[in-house]
Amino acid sequence: MVTFTIPQEIERFIEFTEKSDFEKKILDCGAGGSKPKIAVFSERGYEAHGVEISDTQIERAQKYAEENNLDYKIVKADMRKLPFEDESFSFVYSYHSIMHITKAGTIKAIKEMLRVLRKGGLLYINFQSTDSTGLKWGNDIGDNEMLDFSEVDKHGFDDTFHSFYNNDEPDELFKNLLLLHKGISSFEYKHNDEKCQSVTIDYILQKK
Ligand SMILES: C[S@@+](CC[C@H](N)C(=O)[O-])C[C@H]1O[C@@H](n2cnc3c(N)ncnc32)[C@H](O)[C@@H]1O
Repeated sequence: MVTFTIPQEIERFIEFTEKSDFEKKILDCGAGGSKPKIAVFSERGYEAHGVEISDTQIERAQKYAEENNLDYKIVKADMRKLPFEDESFSFVYSYHSIMHITKAGTIKAIKEMLRVLRKGGLLYINFQSTDSTGLKWGNDIGDNEMLDFSEVDKHGFDDTFHSFYNNDEPDELFKNLLLLHKGISSFEYKHNDEKCQSVTIDYILQKK
């Protein structure tokens, strides 16, 4: 059994993937961490693959797999250059991860996700909204693109990066896809005793 609360957005994506006739083969981009969402797909019988850029986050996710008897494979790779063949996955998703790369990098990552996704396959991505009250620490080095040194080593890096989007801003990235769902989600958390709200813009899309 997965031991963490499964986010509603992940459950919603599964409702769509379960309706598909495609083989249950899925890729998670930014798959590491101690509560790895890839575990949910593995538990439900999907052939689950992941890419992750941080060794520390890969170790955390592998430890979770061992402790909970789950089977998924995470390789060290950058989602902007995926080490997989064209059209090799039925489903691709990135949960709370693409927000860690620049807006220019995000365009590259989405292009890669669509390259490895088969025609008719499903994509889930969420973006951090400018309505969020947290994570906006550090210096704006672009267009709501924050470079932050206050959480050194959280994911095994020297710095953390967050990009924020106005709620309609990502729409143009998906012009050639079929939009199945768009929504806004939020949750509260504490950062240094301060109450913060994470607001995300969620998309479920189909490759034409
Ligand atoms: C907030 S964590 C979310 C992890 C996981 N998706 C989850 O929900 O538990 C974001 C993850 O994205 C990874 N990441 C950041 N940039 C990446 C990139 N360019 N390629 C692959 N992974 C990346 C980070 O190392 C981190 O593990």
